[in-house]
Amino acid sequence: MKKLMFIIFAVLALLIGLYPLIYVFVDHKYTFLSSKAPEILNNPIWRFAFFCHIIFGSISLFIGWRQFGSGFRNKHKKLHRIIGKTYILSVIVSSLASIYMGFYANGNIVSSSGFVSLGIIWLLTTVLALLKIKKGDIIQHQNFMTYSYACTFAAVTLRLWTPILKHMIVTPGLSYLVVAWLCWVPNLMVAYFLNRRRFTKKDIVGPSPFKKANTEKIL
Ligand code: HEM
Repeated sequence: MKKLMFIIFAVLALLIGLYPLIYVFVDHKYTFLSSKAPEILNNPIWRFAFFCHIIFGSISLFIGWRQFGSGFRNKHKKLHRIIGKTYILSVIVSSLASIYMGFYANGNIVSSSGFVSLGIIWLLTTVLALLKIKKGDIIQHQNFMTYSYACTFAAVTLRLWTPILKHMIVTPGLSYLVVAWLCWVPNLMVAYFLNRRRFTKKDIVGPSPFKKANTEKIL
């Protein structure tokens, strides 16, 4: 069951990670870009932010899932570090762009604040995960990375919630306001329970989440 869940999680991350390729192959008038007002679309800063966001967002989603699961991590420590560094860099670029884009989001202050909050939490949890590993605090590094990827995974859950909300809420405008929050708040709750559960497992390193752990065993 756990393995099946992990496969579904990975497949969804890979598929949505590839989704922005539609901006290469599909005419922009048939994509999300056609929903933007001409003054936003013709703003070179917004366009630059948009492409930075989708390119680096895709990279983070596409590679980030591979960091979970101790088997792979323990076997390929060097690769874990390379993927980790690429993930952190991608999130920093994509999240900064997403915070800026959040102010121009479709909808109103509700959707804007949803995306801007997500962007800020995405950036903070990722930077905190980096700072924790620099100090050798593996437990807190794992915790913050779990929160970080829960934010990254919002790109997947947004696209899962959208058709469900379309059936439940008839007004598309209203469902966009809801999805701007629903795509990430439950993800962070799941991350919270995963982090808590990790402490009860026997393969966890270190007696307390607040103590420095043995780096060699887990990385
Ligand atoms: C996790 C934090 C994220 C935030 C805060 C965020 C924020 C945003 C915002 C504000 C927009 C524009 C919405 C509008 O103008 O109405 C957007 C669009 C978009 N984002 Fe993100 N995003 C995140 C993650 C990702 C990731 C990881 C990907 C990678 C697949 C991604 C791919 C896209 C795409 C492709 C669009 C264009 C809309 C579409 O084609 O469906 N985003 N994002």
